[in-house]
Amino acid sequence: MSTIQLHGKSFEIFLPEALLQEKISELAAQINTDYAGKKPLFIAVLNGSFMFASDLFKSITIEAEICFIKLASYKGTTSTGQVITAIGLDVDLTNRHVIVLEDIIDTGKTLHTFLPQLYNQQPESLKICVLLHKPDATLFEVPIDYCCFSIPNKFVLGYGLDYDGYGRNSKDIYKLAE
Ligand code: IMP
Ligand code: MG
Repeated sequence: MSTIQLHGKSFEIFLPEALLQEKISELAAQINTDYAGKKPLFIAVLNGSFMFASDLFKSITIEAEICFIKLASYKGTTSTGQVITAIGLDVDLTNRHVIVLEDIIDTGKTLHTFLPQLYNQQPESLKICVLLHKPDATLFEVPIDYCCFSIPNKFVLGYGLDYDGYGRNSKDIYKLAE
């Protein structure tokens, strides 16, 4: 499908499944090289990153662990500016090589607010890995170490990303039509 309708809005195809999978495989290969022998701990940020985290993690061939936290800051197609920790971290990060997996960095508020809690636990290293980054939307600086796609400041959905709860179950990513 090249367009979909959701909550009265029209979305057009933007990043097709094959392109997403290709980039994610490349990224996993890079991480396999960079973290060989380091037993990294991936922290995936729910809900939006569940498909990205799943596909990336399947291509990680080195010894690695994964755990999940749930942060929320969005309502509809704009950020609420409030970051809520709905499910917190239950793993000790001391001396661990941590890789945070996020679906998208938009304003940067979510990770900017949450990262100090992770640094406080004194991990050996901490890197940020994102599927999508909207550089033109930045309000809070977040150091991004790995990124699959830099995209324009347009609302997107699919492949885990939602619009008011719906649209996550698409293999492709769509953007709001002009
Ligand atoms: P930030 O705090 O503004 O960087 O926004 C981060 C969170 O908002 C992401 O983890 C997403 O869950 C959500 N988000 C940001 N932009 C979009 C979008 O275009 N579509 C769907 N969700 C988004
Ligand atoms: Mg998210």
